[in-house]
Amino acid sequence: MSFINWNEKTTVAVEKIDSQHKTMVDIVNDLYESHSIYSKERIIEILHGLLEDLKFHFFTEEDYMKKYKFPGYISHKLEHDRFIRNFIDYIVKLESGDKEFDIDFLNSFRNWFINHLELNDKKCAIFIKEKEEECA
Ligand SMILES: [Fe+2]
Ligand SMILES: [Fe+2]
Repeated sequence: MSFINWNEKTTVAVEKIDSQHKTMVDIVNDLYESHSIYSKERIIEILHGLLEDLKFHFFTEEDYMKKYKFPGYISHKLEHDRFIRNFIDYIVKLESGDKEFDIDFLNSFRNWFINHLELNDKKCAIFIKEKEEECA
């Protein structure tokens, strides 16, 4: 069983969003499996890559929400922004040696990711799908 399970419960039925989520889930699962054999530099490099994926992904969702005037846009974006700030803080602490990488980080990533997906992304994806079907 993977650290983050990918199944029908974690899909939101908007293909672009699902595939971005899946890419990030794969990265986190790999980090969970292999962090004990990765060097600190390698872990930081992976986290930088994940940060770029997250930024691009949040941009994608926000772009959809703006395009279709999703009413929950502001609170959804605030959650993204807060998560990115905390993620960057964590990388900075690892780089400066203030913190050592540990599994708590991956646990909180998973909790946030699944919770956000269930509460925010699904709602927004249903809205996007409806709008796209109207436009089709
Ligand atoms: Fe989101
Ligand atoms: Fe998302």
